[in-house]
Amino acid sequence: MNEALEAKTQDLINKVVYHRKGVERSYTNRILNVAESMALLKYHDYFAGRAVLDIGVGTGRTTRYLYPLASKYVAIDYSPVMIDQMHETMPQVPAFLCDARDLSPFQDGEFEFIFGSNNVVDALSHEDRLRCLQEIFRVLKPGGMFLFSSHNRDLAPNLRKPTITWSRNPVDSAIRVRNWLRSMANKARVEQYQREEADYALYCDSGHDYCCIHYYIDQRTQRRQLESLGFTVLEVLDPFGQSLQPDDRVPDSHWLMYVATSRYPAATG
Ligand SMILES: C[S@@+](CC[C@H](N)C(=O)[O-])C[C@H]1O[C@@H](n2cnc3c(N)ncnc32)[C@H](O)[C@@H]1O
Repeated sequence: MNEALEAKTQDLINKVVYHRKGVERSYTNRILNVAESMALLKYHDYFAGRAVLDIGVGTGRTTRYLYPLASKYVAIDYSPVMIDQMHETMPQVPAFLCDARDLSPFQDGEFEFIFGSNNVVDALSHEDRLRCLQEIFRVLKPGGMFLFSSHNRDLAPNLRKPTITWSRNPVDSAIRVRNWLRSMANKARVEQYQREEADYALYCDSGHDYCCIHYYIDQRTQRRQLESLGFTVLEVLDPFGQSLQPDDRVPDSHWLMYVATSRYPAATG
């Protein structure tokens, strides 16, 4: 399969999941994780009283924290299900159907802080990810912050396979067997689209019962990718909020949080 077709297939596989009616029920969590809390405390000045764009907002887990503090807050998602849910539960919040690969509704430098929480950009193929990061760079004010998480490729050998833990209750055990069989069937269907490349990998992981194909990248390569697009990486945090050295390998962390600012254009003349 050629690259363009592979990208399209990945997009379709993930879209089916995120656009499915009822997907919002998988996003009932309202709490920030440790790395998000640490980063938002540490970099509070980058979003408090400033213009914030929350990409792939889902059901608005992060909205509850950012909306009250920002001077302007805009949430986007490409899933009509998620945006309907936002309109229903938080009608006062500006939330729009918009694909993060095409931020043309927004002007250059319109936002001072852009958040991509819970590995939003990993639903995209490599080419689409680069396009999305370029768009983020464009709508981010020079010196503004892009805070996002992404799946960590160092974890690859420890990626979880579908497993069953038995219960003493036979009904519970029967449900667990049914779920395990469903995960195995999903994995068998989707894992043919997995791919290993020098700079990244695409894996069918446990997210949404093995129905998605997600992008995985190690922090050394992600730092390089961001720098090549005009960002300066301030730091990379593990899920416990610990700052990593650029060469650290972190095989136990499912994802990492990247703190980057957009560089000011070089002065001319
Ligand atoms: C894992 S959920 C994260 C939701 C939310 N950010 C959170 O932290 O709870 C990923 C979200 O990104 C959205 N998404 C995926 N690809 C997208 C794209 N290309 N443009 C906009 N939203 C996208 C999905 O619809 C979904 O709501």
